[in-house]
Amino acid sequence: MKKIIYTKVGGLEAIDIIEQEKENIGEREVRVRVHRAGINFADLMMRQGLYGASPDFPFTPGYEVSGEVIEIGKLVSKVNLNDRVIAIPGFGGYSEEIIITENRVIIIPEKMSYDQAASIPVTYGTAFHMLVHLGCIKEGDAILIHHAAGGVGTAAAQICKAYGASLIIGTASSKKKDFVESLGMHFVDKEKDDFVKICKDLTGGFGVNQAIDPVAGKHLMRSYKALRNGGKLHCFGASSAVPKSKRSWFAALKMWIDTPRFNPIKMMKSNKSVFGVHMGTLDDERIFNSHLQELNKMMLSGSINPIIDSIWRFEDVREAQRHMHDRKNCGKIILDFAPK
Ligand SMILES: NC(=O)c1ccc[n+]([C@@H]2O[C@H](COP(=O)([O-])OP(=O)(O)OC[C@H]3O[C@@H](n4cnc5c(N)ncnc54)[C@H](OP(=O)(O)O)[C@@H]3O)[C@@H](O)[C@H]2O)c1
Repeated sequence: MKKIIYTKVGGLEAIDIIEQEKENIGEREVRVRVHRAGINFADLMMRQGLYGASPDFPFTPGYEVSGEVIEIGKLVSKVNLNDRVIAIPGFGGYSEEIIITENRVIIIPEKMSYDQAASIPVTYGTAFHMLVHLGCIKEGDAILIHHAAGGVGTAAAQICKAYGASLIIGTASSKKKDFVESLGMHFVDKEKDDFVKICKDLTGGFGVNQAIDPVAGKHLMRSYKALRNGGKLHCFGASSAVPKSKRSWFAALKMWIDTPRFNPIKMMKSNKSVFGVHMGTLDDERIFNSHLQELNKMMLSGSINPIIDSIWRFEDVREAQRHMHDRKNCGKIILDFAPK
């Protein structure tokens, strides 16, 4: 059984593929033969040692996979042998097989492909948590999405549409204009345009109802300024700390120093809220599972449909991660672990 590991803190050279002995499964665990594993921006941050909630090196990254159940523990009751499933290990998903507790496994509807299934949990789960669960998105709302062409960004845009948002403003690099517009967003060039001004201008001076910001640093205050009275800001990442594939202490420190400290007393005047969101440390599994059930329904009804940028054989994992570092992806990047 092969799996990918991060050998040490580092750039792409810190990625290796090793052979691992099979381990026995526990009574409430299942063994999943992985077909697809999602690549997330957090995987890049972990490799650079810039992700608080990650194991000690060496370790195998990989939040989410899709695959088939090939062994079940004696007390497992929720899934059966040969079931097609999504599994959310948190870590360890970049692997031909994983062992996981049955509570973190969800059966995939018949119509859903392994590609689609591996694209849903992190991106759609996070976007749904912010916009619907915390943000209570309503018909007619105006929403600002950063990294609009990426995994979470494209999922967020579809969720906004499904919930009747009337204006979706998406920031990305200039080459992605057509792609962002094709998703029904008003495109904002992140290098050239002033997104705060555009948010105000397009909403009659009021600002947006919600903004989702995975950039942090000074950018976060600008997203806050783009909100209307009563608006909600979700801080859910720190991409400004990871400018390249090699770690930059300078960028990480700058992000940390520049990220605003919000004062709730001052915030009272504008009724704005700021949420810190990290799905990986959300410890009530019921919340995330109910998001996934709802997303499965939306997927089957056709109101959402994961946009897959590219699928790479797991042996090409370095190139796949480089593709994300180079900001080339439009949609989700997937690793293919299926038997050849
Ligand atoms: N808190 C949570 O639970 C949670 C869950 C999932 C994701 N996230 C965060 O959400 C963000 C998006 O995640 P994702 O997995 O969907 O990735 P993604 O958006 O597909 O990430 C790649 C894209 O991000 C943009 N980008 C901006 N700054 C970048 C940088 N410094 N390096 C490389 N790309 C950069 C690039 O597009 P443009 O430059 O064209 O915009 C690039 O194509 C990340 O910050 C991630 O950490 C948080």
